[in-house]
Amino acid sequence: MRGNFMRTAIVFLAAVIFGHVTTSVHAATIAIVGTGNVAEALGPRFAELGHTIIYGSREPNRADVQALVQRTGHGAQALAPAVAAAAADAIVLAIPWDAAEAVVKSLGNVSGKVIIDPTNPRHIAEDGLRDYAFDGSNAERIQQWAPAAHVVKAFNTMTAGLMTNPASAGGPVTVALAGDDSTAKAFVAELAQGIGFDTMDFGPVRYAHVIEGMFYVWGNARQTGTPFEFFMRRPPSN
Ligand SMILES: NC(=O)c1ccc[n+]([C@@H]2O[C@H](COP(=O)([O-])OP(=O)(O)OC[C@H]3O[C@@H](n4cnc5c(N)ncnc54)[C@H](OP(=O)(O)O)[C@@H]3O)[C@@H](O)[C@H]2O)c1
Repeated sequence: MRGNFMRTAIVFLAAVIFGHVTTSVHAATIAIVGTGNVAEALGPRFAELGHTIIYGSREPNRADVQALVQRTGHGAQALAPAVAAAAADAIVLAIPWDAAEAVVKSLGNVSGKVIIDPTNPRHIAEDGLRDYAFDGSNAERIQQWAPAAHVVKAFNTMTAGLMTNPASAGGPVTVALAGDDSTAKAFVAELAQGIGFDTMDFGPVRYAHVIEGMFYVWGNARQTGTPFEFFMRRPPSN
């Protein structure tokens, strides 16, 4: 599967270098583990780009999961998470943050695969505000649980509604990325750009805690009645 991902990435990079990017040359198989809000937002949109979506569900035959498969189309299916991951080049962990350890450790050999991590860990402090649940980030922990995979933090600084409809922001919205593998980050950047986002590389996975921390100040501001949107637009000159 590392070979498949590398082939997909090489074809994609060659296409970028030679200016021939189309949705068909870099079609990948993407496992989306979980079938909730984020899966429902990203799955159909990635499928529209020409990627094959396999939802990884604890209950792949459940009616709502099968309805999501139908809505996604383009050859989508739902399988058990480990089976979906085994067939995929990239895996989106669209699951509760505190399920990540058990899920990642249950996926089997994910060597060479891209793991996209949109999870937002949180601890509710004594004053009622969101805060870090542990030192570092979930992305770093996922990288430790799956050391031969390429973890990319992405899509956690926006709502599922915005993932579905970036234009609703009324201007560019940036997906913040962090990860140690530049080819994996380029792949995720291409995915995000393909569905209408800008991307910004925050650096290696050790910076993912900064991106995860954005959720705390964003959520706290909403809670205290002073909401803001975290679009991270580039200056017009860039
Ligand atoms: N919702 C948002 O706007 C948003 C935005 C950015 C980031 N996020 C983050 O993205 C992640 C997913 O969010 P979501 O809103 O999609 O969550 P969700 O609607 O609760 O869906 C999570 C999915 O994960 C699976 N799941 C639930 N509990 C599980 C467990 N204990 N073990 C394994 N799988 C389990 C379920 O799918 P099956 O029943 O089919 O297995 C469920 O549909 C979260 O970490 C969240 O913090 C959410």
